[in-house]
Amino acid sequence: MRSIREWKQAAIWLFGFSVLWNRVGAQIRYTIPEELKEGFVVGNVAKDIGLDISDIANRKLRIASDSSTQYFSVDTRNGELLVNGRIDREALCGQSGSCLMPLQIVVENPLQLHRVDIEIQDINDNAPNFHTRDNVLKIAESVALGARFPFESAEDLDVGSNSLSSYSLSNNAFFRLNVKTLEDGKKVPELIVDKPLDREKQSVHKLILTALDGGNPVKSGTILIHVIVEDINDNEPIFEQSQYKVSVLESIPFGSSVLTVKATDLDEGPNGEIQYFFGAHTPDPVRKSFNIDAKTGEITVIGKLDYELTKLFTFDVCAKDKGSPKQEGHSSVRLNIIDENDNIPEIILTSLPSPVSENASVGTVVALINVKDLDSGNNGKVNLNISGRSPFKLKPAFDNHYSLVTDTLLDREVNAEYNIELVAADSGVPSLKTMKTVNVKVLDVNDNPPIFSQFSYIVYIKENSPPGASLFSVSASDIDQDKNAILTYSILDSSTNQVPASSYFYINSENGTIYSMSSFDYEKIKLFSVVVQAKDHGSPSLSSNTTVHVFILDQNDNVPAVIYPSTSMGSISYQRMPRSAKAGHLVTKVTAVDADSGHNAWLFYRLAEATDASLFSVNLHTGEVRTKRSVSEQDDSSQRLLIEIKDNGEPVQSTTVTVEILIEDGFHEPISDYSKIRPEVDKKTGKMTLYLIISLASVSLLCLMTFFILMVKCARGSMRQLKLLYREDKFRI
Ligand SMILES: *[C@@H]1O[C@H](CO)[C@@H](O)[C@H](O)[C@H]1NC(C)=O
Ligand SMILES: *[C@@H]1O[C@H](CO)[C@@H](O)[C@H](O)[C@H]1NC(C)=O
Repeated sequence: MRSIREWKQAAIWLFGFSVLWNRVGAQIRYTIPEELKEGFVVGNVAKDIGLDISDIANRKLRIASDSSTQYFSVDTRNGELLVNGRIDREALCGQSGSCLMPLQIVVENPLQLHRVDIEIQDINDNAPNFHTRDNVLKIAESVALGARFPFESAEDLDVGSNSLSSYSLSNNAFFRLNVKTLEDGKKVPELIVDKPLDREKQSVHKLILTALDGGNPVKSGTILIHVIVEDINDNEPIFEQSQYKVSVLESIPFGSSVLTVKATDLDEGPNGEIQYFFGAHTPDPVRKSFNIDAKTGEITVIGKLDYELTKLFTFDVCAKDKGSPKQEGHSSVRLNIIDENDNIPEIILTSLPSPVSENASVGTVVALINVKDLDSGNNGKVNLNISGRSPFKLKPAFDNHYSLVTDTLLDREVNAEYNIELVAADSGVPSLKTMKTVNVKVLDVNDNPPIFSQFSYIVYIKENSPPGASLFSVSASDIDQDKNAILTYSILDSSTNQVPASSYFYINSENGTIYSMSSFDYEKIKLFSVVVQAKDHGSPSLSSNTTVHVFILDQNDNVPAVIYPSTSMGSISYQRMPRSAKAGHLVTKVTAVDADSGHNAWLFYRLAEATDASLFSVNLHTGEVRTKRSVSEQDDSSQRLLIEIKDNGEPVQSTTVTVEILIEDGFHEPISDYSKIRPEVDKKTGKMTLYLIISLASVSLLCLMTFFILMVKCARGSMRQLKLLYREDKFRI
């Protein structure tokens, strides 16, 4: 602001100038700046029109024009023209270069009209002004360099040098200012794009455009320009990762989320709205198993995953914006499927189990086995075992191949077949198992001889039985199978037996029934030891022997034979005795033998008939003939005795002997007779004793043998039991 004193100096200068100009032009003209204070003296109008100060009142000096009264007044005391109100040049004259205010000065007596022109000079009291305070300018980011954006010009009400003279633009990197002067001299500011715009870096530029006038001091006006950079789809969506790696379990349920891919697009609006898709060349299996959500980019499972079919999925994902044209970005997905133990091991018999011979050596291969598990790693690692105790074992060959071999010697007679239970278990957690039963048959080998039901047999047969009788049946059994168990019986002729048994006996080769082929005489042979052999049809065949002891039973088929007294001279034997004999006198002794044995040879003597039965008695057992009383003179000298000799058999066999006893007087001892007879008697009794000894010995031998056979039978019975027990034990172990 200028001080009043300054204004006064300026006014004085202007006054002097106008007075000079008035003299020349003969017209009164004042020049004053606008916006003077009320009461400012423009000039002494009275003096300038040549009026005395004393006349002012008389001549009624005044301003005529009404229009100007509001701005000026005349001081009637001294004739000075004073500023009466605010003079705004811009309001009065606008933009015109000069601004003259004509005043009619009237004086009366005589009435005179004077014209006074007051030139209002401009002062810089207006700043340049933009019509709008803020302005928004939208420019596409793709705009070419050098593009011009004309702007509204600022207005300055002042004129001349106080009017608008220049523009300036706030400091910025992207725009520069150009001022275009139109034909009418109007200055139009233009924004020129100086550097490429990038909405994604800076979407709004705030610029201040300043308009300056040429006054002194300079006045200015500003406008804030918002340059909004409009988006162009110049950015493609970009995935957060150039490759996604993810692992999922193969058992993942349908609908589960596997992965969410995400892309960003720096553009805005539809240019930045992203939709997700599978890449154009995504293989069918991926599309069948997975779905990608176009909005969220979430990849979910829609099909069954199976590690055993596909271990890895690789595919591309694509993000497209909705700009026009669309831009797209790509990434790849690597989806590892993690194996789970979802496959049961499988047992495969590469060869059908072959029957194994019971004499097969340890390690004989019976079957080839292969195990399989579709899983991998531990889930696919399979262990094959035999469950329980078994005479077989598994021998691993190469990966997952096994041979089933014998582990011990086999015995078909103990176990004719085996059901081997194989268990395959994988190493997964939890482990999966499978079982398979392999049936192995054991083939028979002729390794068991026939066994007779008894070690030896005892058979009794009565003598004199008719030939062809069925005596007995032996039987043997063979625990082998089929041909190896078919038996043939035969009778063996051992060289140690003096009698060939086969000529006396016949055996049915098929069922072991023994028949006699002749009649036997106990008195000739009492015992046959028949060796019977049972032989199987194996190759080579096995056999075993048994002995059948055939005892011939005695029948009472022999009549007792009298050996004393001798009847060789006739049917009567003569004996002598003295008449002087007392009671109890041994007259003679009848001796008989029986070829039979035992009871059949047990003899009894009885007096059957006698001339005088009161005189003699016969000892029942010894056959001694003794006198019962003393012989008297009246007794006949010839006495006849009929002695009966009976055995104890059934039926009884008997014989008689007639003894004629001659009683002689004066006969003392028939010593001579005796001595004559004795050697013969001795010989005969010796023979008798021999018979007795033989029969006794044979009876006791029979007893002994029976006892021995019984004992052996007992022992064998317990031995067999023991053997069986041992076998059972062996296979239970
Ligand atoms: C053995 O066979 C014969 C002849 O066929 C028959 O008479 C006999 O009874 C049979 N023996 C046995 C023990 O079956
Ligand atoms: C059976 O007896 C025969 C003749 O004595 C003999 O050669 C054979 O070895 C015997 N067999 C057995 C198994 O004892």
